[in-house]
Amino acid sequence: MPLDPTPVPDELRGLRVALLVSGGIAAYKVVDLASALNQAGCEVRVAMTPSAMRFVGAPTFQGVTGNAALTGLWAADGSPEPHVALGDWAQLILVAPATANVIGRIASGRSDDIVTATLLAARCPVIVAPAMNDAMWSKPAVQDNLATLRRRGVTLVEPESGHLASGHVGTGRLAGAQAIFNAMVHAARSRYDFAGRRVVVTAGGTREPIDPVRFISNYSSGKMGFALAAAAADRGARVMLVTAASHPPHHGVEVQRVDTGREMLAELRSQLRGADVLLMAAAVGDFRPAATAKRKIRREETPSLTLQLEPMPDLVASLASDESLAGVFRVGFAAEDSDLDAKGVEKLRRKGLHAIVANDVSRRDIGFGSDYNAGVLLFADGSRYELEKATKREMADRILDLVLPKLTR
Ligand code: PMT
Repeated sequence: MPLDPTPVPDELRGLRVALLVSGGIAAYKVVDLASALNQAGCEVRVAMTPSAMRFVGAPTFQGVTGNAALTGLWAADGSPEPHVALGDWAQLILVAPATANVIGRIASGRSDDIVTATLLAARCPVIVAPAMNDAMWSKPAVQDNLATLRRRGVTLVEPESGHLASGHVGTGRLAGAQAIFNAMVHAARSRYDFAGRRVVVTAGGTREPIDPVRFISNYSSGKMGFALAAAAADRGARVMLVTAASHPPHHGVEVQRVDTGREMLAELRSQLRGADVLLMAAAVGDFRPAATAKRKIRREETPSLTLQLEPMPDLVASLASDESLAGVFRVGFAAEDSDLDAKGVEKLRRKGLHAIVANDVSRRDIGFGSDYNAGVLLFADGSRYELEKATKREMADRILDLVLPKLTR
């Protein structure tokens, strides 16, 4: 600060910003920030800690944003869970000023006021702009808490050096408007890079019935597909998840539950009309029982049982040969136990894919059922990217980063 004449970048126009204010003297500067964002066409909603209200009154923020500021965990109109409503609504959260106290409470996962509870309920990028006394800023406890937030993906806008309210000169002054706006633009851009795209994702292991109570399946948990769907939705895509696994769906993801490979294929044929991308993380069976018993096969009546299996259709290969789906960028996953590159390229070609993620399912620390994955992303144009071991959500974002520039429409 001061704000004037720092212009608010055009990219922020129309963005839904939750401004979370904690109790530091720099709260007065944040009134100007809220006002500038509001005038530039952002919708700004403010939530304040009790100590923030000792520096600036809630009516001041209402005056500059046009929205009543939330000051507690109970909404004035009695509606439950205002922190969940604010977390759901926000496309971007800015915590400014962030005191040492609120930083510590965020890092330890507290939810004892409207600011910390909103952050726990958030589904969008979070920017934290600290402001405090220079001695507090330099303490290992504060720096460790900031490192924790960074590790969790929070963007920090470092404080500036200069004259502080305490009378000292040092680092701790709230960053200027320009630095805060730059961080907001960066977060808003990366978040909405799939806006306007329709992405279809598959997840889980298909189930081929033997009789009404038994089936053949595999170890796929669906975690990889759910992570891809969540990442695409968070980046603005309209997402349809066709899944043989059940988990609570991520906000904004539409879910179609299927069991068999045939059901998955039928659902994909209808969902892929007009889609931009298919991310085929499901482990589809290669064989199914040639016949399904209508009634439960009873042990007493069946001393031994031989199952006759027949090959399944290759779903992605048959979608590739459907001309009406030619515009869909198809990304497969190859479950391999060796030679990821060679086997990946062979599958990419045989199945008519635009790209394939080859992952090693013989490893226990990644792949089936794990929260982590690793592998290599191979494109039909010959480009190749190593996917280092990461959480499935991190890997999903990396895959989206690499696929986006390849989309031609
Ligand atoms: O679900 P998780 O526990 O998180 O584990 C994730 C995973 C290991 C299952 C995932 O990362 C993965 O590798 N998915 C693909 C599994 C698989 O079926 O691999 P595949 O090499 O057999 O098949 C290659 C591609 O063809 C896949 O995109 C598959 O969906 C598709 N396929 C396979 C068989 C078939 N009949 N039709 C298909 O379309």
